Amino acid sequence: MSNGRKIAAVVLAAGKGTRMKSERAKVLHRASGRPIAYYPIRAALALDCSPLVVVVGHQAEQAQSEIGQLFPSAKFALQKEQLGTGHAVLCAEDALRGFSGDVLILAADVPLVRAETLQGLIDAKKQSGAQVSLLTSRPKDPRGYGRVVRNAKGEVARVVEEKDASPEEKKIGEVNVSIYLFDADFLFRALRTVGRGNAQGEYYLTDVVAQGRAVAVLAEEAEVSGVNDRAQLASSASQLRQRKNAQLMKDGVTLVDPAVTYVDEGIEVGPDSVLEPLVSLRGKTRVGRAVEIGQGCVIVDSEIADGVRILPYSHFEGAKVGRGAIVGPFARLRPGAQVGEAAHIGNFVELKKTVFGKGSKANHLTYLGDAVIGEGCNIGAGTITCNYDGANKLPTTVEDGAFIGSDTQLVAPVRVGKGAYVGSGSTIREDVPPGALAVSAGKQRNIEGWVAKKAPKKASKG
Ligand code: UD1
Ligand code: CA
Repeated sequence: MSNGRKIAAVVLAAGKGTRMKSERAKVLHRASGRPIAYYPIRAALALDCSPLVVVVGHQAEQAQSEIGQLFPSAKFALQKEQLGTGHAVLCAEDALRGFSGDVLILAADVPLVRAETLQGLIDAKKQSGAQVSLLTSRPKDPRGYGRVVRNAKGEVARVVEEKDASPEEKKIGEVNVSIYLFDADFLFRALRTVGRGNAQGEYYLTDVVAQGRAVAVLAEEAEVSGVNDRAQLASSASQLRQRKNAQLMKDGVTLVDPAVTYVDEGIEVGPDSVLEPLVSLRGKTRVGRAVEIGQGCVIVDSEIADGVRILPYSHFEGAKVGRGAIVGPFARLRPGAQVGEAAHIGNFVELKKTVFGKGSKANHLTYLGDAVIGEGCNIGAGTITCNYDGANKLPTTVEDGAFIGSDTQLVAPVRVGKGAYVGSGSTIREDVPPGALAVSAGKQRNIEGWVAKKAPKKASKG
């Protein structure tokens, strides 16, 4: 998409966002796992805007680092003091030196705006030959916004801020949403003449509109509503989620209840996968085809191969799960957990930095940390790797086909050889050779008649 003319973008992200009541800059608050500034910037880049300059001020370093990581091509301009939107755009002038064409201006706190709508601004400016096209809307409640004042011919004459508006002007229903396309030369020439003799003592970008010919493009309120407080953050986030979920369903993923399915931006899920209610997929997670993810699972930065079944209420972080494996319910995979193909990890099993071999099973109540478990092993209920000696993390190895009886402690560093057996209730401190049986529990003694003779008497009632 383009208009033949070059387009640069300036994204205003310097404001504090007082109404968020937050230590964190408003534009860094997250929706679907990304700072809200991510969304308008992505829309601008979809139109091939270049250069793209983000004006930062409040928490500038943090903003630059988070946004710069997401968009390595973005340039940054610093607005040290937030003297108004007009001043903010002037701060980007240096970064745009040598550029001629149109400048798209976006507020970083309007995450729902779509590239198609921005294209509408480009088309309107081109067709009208105006110096400015601005996006407007007719919200149910226009209070707080700048109003679009039109002349007798119905053309856009100027924008007046709510705080400077007359009672008559306050009745105007069409508002400015802070998204514009300006002729670059006109913009910077006009900005230099803008003063701060207004109710807020700020340099208003809106004052530029009256200095040239402007056309308005009306947008749906929902798409251009800004995030100024936590309630608006939640409602914008919910819209973004709906868009993402709609896309997943279009791509062949079943969402049992999309209203309560949370998939971060950028996450891919393969077709024929099923996400049950309250599933949350976060960060860099990738999910293959025909994967079933049960209710209440939280999966962070993990890779799930095709055909995996994850039963309800499991929590993964930094894990990899191989094709056809079955994990959960109530399983916990911590960073470095790698579950092999067709392996089974059952309830209340925790894996950390552990490679768990193809077809192996650990079905109940187990902790495996810093371990390598071979293929086709059976890890009995209640098996624990004692991998920490108070200072160091130590490795455990269980070779292919080994059988670890229930309630075993594997005291690391230790190795159980290929095909070996460990009797239940064992504390294994020494390596077990391949093919051996290791038992360490003491021999059982039964003391006949002990209960009648020696057992403590229950206190009698009354
Ligand atoms: C602005 C518009 C108003 C419009 C409204 C839509 C002006 C003067 N007014 O008002 O007509 O209806 O947006 O939401 O432009 N920012 C900076 N530096 C500053 C001030 C603001 O970078 O010095 C950034 C903010 O971070 C934000 C954007 O500009 O992303 C808009 O600022 P905000 O203070 O929300 O403007 P409004 O007063 O709402
Ligand atoms: Ca605003």
